[in-house]
Amino acid sequence: MQQELIRWVDNHMPPSADKELSIMSLGNVAKARFFHSSFPQYSITPLARLDGMAKYLGLGGLFVKDESYRFGLNAFKVLGGSFAMARYIAQQMDRDVSEMTYDYLTSESFRLEFGQATFFTATDGNHGRGVAWAAHKLGQKAVVHMPKGSSQARFDNIAKEGAQVTIEDVNYDDCVRMAAAEAAQTKHGVIVQDTAWPGYEEIPSWIMQGYGTMASEAAEQLRQMEINRPTHIFVQAGVGSLAGAVIGYFANLFPSAPPKFIVMEARAADCLYQGALAGDGHPRIVDGDLKTIMAGLACGEPNTISWDILRNHVSAFVSCPDWVSARGMRMLGVPVKGDPTVISGESGAVGMGLIAALMETDQYKDLRDYLELDRFSQVLLFSTEGNTDPMKFRKVLWDGEYATA
Ligand SMILES: Cc1ncc(COP(=O)(O)O)c(C=O)c1O
Repeated sequence: MQQELIRWVDNHMPPSADKELSIMSLGNVAKARFFHSSFPQYSITPLARLDGMAKYLGLGGLFVKDESYRFGLNAFKVLGGSFAMARYIAQQMDRDVSEMTYDYLTSESFRLEFGQATFFTATDGNHGRGVAWAAHKLGQKAVVHMPKGSSQARFDNIAKEGAQVTIEDVNYDDCVRMAAAEAAQTKHGVIVQDTAWPGYEEIPSWIMQGYGTMASEAAEQLRQMEINRPTHIFVQAGVGSLAGAVIGYFANLFPSAPPKFIVMEARAADCLYQGALAGDGHPRIVDGDLKTIMAGLACGEPNTISWDILRNHVSAFVSCPDWVSARGMRMLGVPVKGDPTVISGESGAVGMGLIAALMETDQYKDLRDYLELDRFSQVLLFSTEGNTDPMKFRKVLWDGEYATA
């Protein structure tokens, strides 16, 4: 069987005024990190240094932020929902978010003054689990809708946090509309969605700032490893909030000499790639069932504020078939001897699969050359989830599903 090819496009879109970049200012991200560090469950997730793999691939260095350790939840997503909840509560109370520490939000005085809100959301799993977890920890309520085809394991993990959760017979984007409509009809109801659309921008911008904690940890960990500036940052995208957050943060951190930024998507939901291909600066939408093993990337409607960051700062948009991610999962799960193991799920490993495809053979030499990837490159990847669907993880690693050829 012929292997489905990786597709890419360079960024030739006209830049905008870049007004959304300030969302990810270093000051805003510092506030998010301060909030997250106030949780007793908080610890910095590891930055796996894959020296053996870097050598094998002909790179200067390869670093993978391992989000399977995030708050014991196996994915980075909780960073966004939790910080947005804190900022929403701060806004409702007319206070600054720096006062919204874990101790304060779980105190009796807070309960008497603020009481309870209901946080609605739609999710493939990880975001909803994060919202449910944070609501539970902070004594708030959560209602979560999952799209058709969602996995039972991911459903159970959300239900376990005490949220009201359903699997609906519609796709992700329709679940978002459903959650928005319900929030509008509920007293003290608010939708905490991890994507923005015209008119719904404030909460997603807070969610992006929450993701900034992960990026700022990685920058600090790299410095500790004496890599002052990565040369290339690969980040995967569903709606693109994560990519906008990571790229926005690093663009603010290195304003005069930013790393090259590369965005990967699942082939079935490659809306950002389609927008870049069209090239006029306007985002594009992909619809249908969006069938891919990369469940967290199965989103066809770009976050509009994030898109504005991406169109100004990304070097290349890449559309990846499922085998790219499956290969990345295997490579991280069975590392070169001496390198640490990274348990990386379907949406977490696509960057590893892509960098390997670019470096191992000359099949994608055009993209490798365009990105100037070579033995001096210091590459940063984000493994955004662990084995959030453990059965699927075994099928890919143990049974070799989604083989390369
Ligand atoms: C594990 C994982 N990685 C990456 C993403 C992509 O994030 P975004 O939708 O903000 O692009 C998601 C989204 O749910 C996810 O769950």
